[in-house]
Amino acid sequence: MSLKAVIFDLDGVIVSTDECHYLAWKKIADDEGIYFDRAINERLRGVSRMESLEIVLERAEKEYSEEEKTKLAETKNGFYKEYIKSLTPNDILEGVMVNLEELKKNGIKVAIGSSSKNTPIILKQIGLDGYFDAVSDGNNISKSKPDPEVFLKAADMLGVAYADCMIVEDADAGIEAGKRAGMKTLAVNKAQGGDYAVPNLGKAKILDVVGK
Ligand code: G6P
Ligand code: MG
Repeated sequence: MSLKAVIFDLDGVIVSTDECHYLAWKKIADDEGIYFDRAINERLRGVSRMESLEIVLERAEKEYSEEEKTKLAETKNGFYKEYIKSLTPNDILEGVMVNLEELKKNGIKVAIGSSSKNTPIILKQIGLDGYFDAVSDGNNISKSKPDPEVFLKAADMLGVAYADCMIVEDADAGIEAGKRAGMKTLAVNKAQGGDYAVPNLGKAKILDVVGK
């Protein structure tokens, strides 16, 4: 296969912020008296903040106005931002740096493709701001995964053809987005449906997996 760029999801692939998202949503749900558990939380992977809120509110007994929803999303983000303040470069997941360095050494571009509006803050916290050739995130898209927009924009920023890109994802919504973008897909953790799959990047070299 021709591989010129690898576009990484951030949450759950580069860094494990997924627990911070879970704790913040759990706090909102508990305060509102809404049932919420880790199985529901799995459905929020890769999904934008407002769409995540809609999923959390599926179990609510009352109807929320748009104004109340905006307020809840803001409150959740406040909790989340407190949690991610403690992130450091030590929170970069196993195998990530080795893979990134090897890709760069082989002339393959690396980018971020994340639905999160907090991407710039997180990259700074973990010491990777300025590291990627392109960062496409929740701040420059209008539709979140499974829509392919975030990955298409990353490829456009890199100037690489979509067919020459591979995405790395821990969310089913992200794998679907990669497929709809016409890119190769590598699933990590529990994500389903990828062209390739590995339990985590500590267990695999991306270039070996794709046979380069
Ligand atoms: C990532 C996470 C989602 C989160 C989304 C938006 O895709 O996997 O769980 O809802 O980003 O994050 P934000 O930081 O903008 O609230
Ligand atoms: Mg993710």
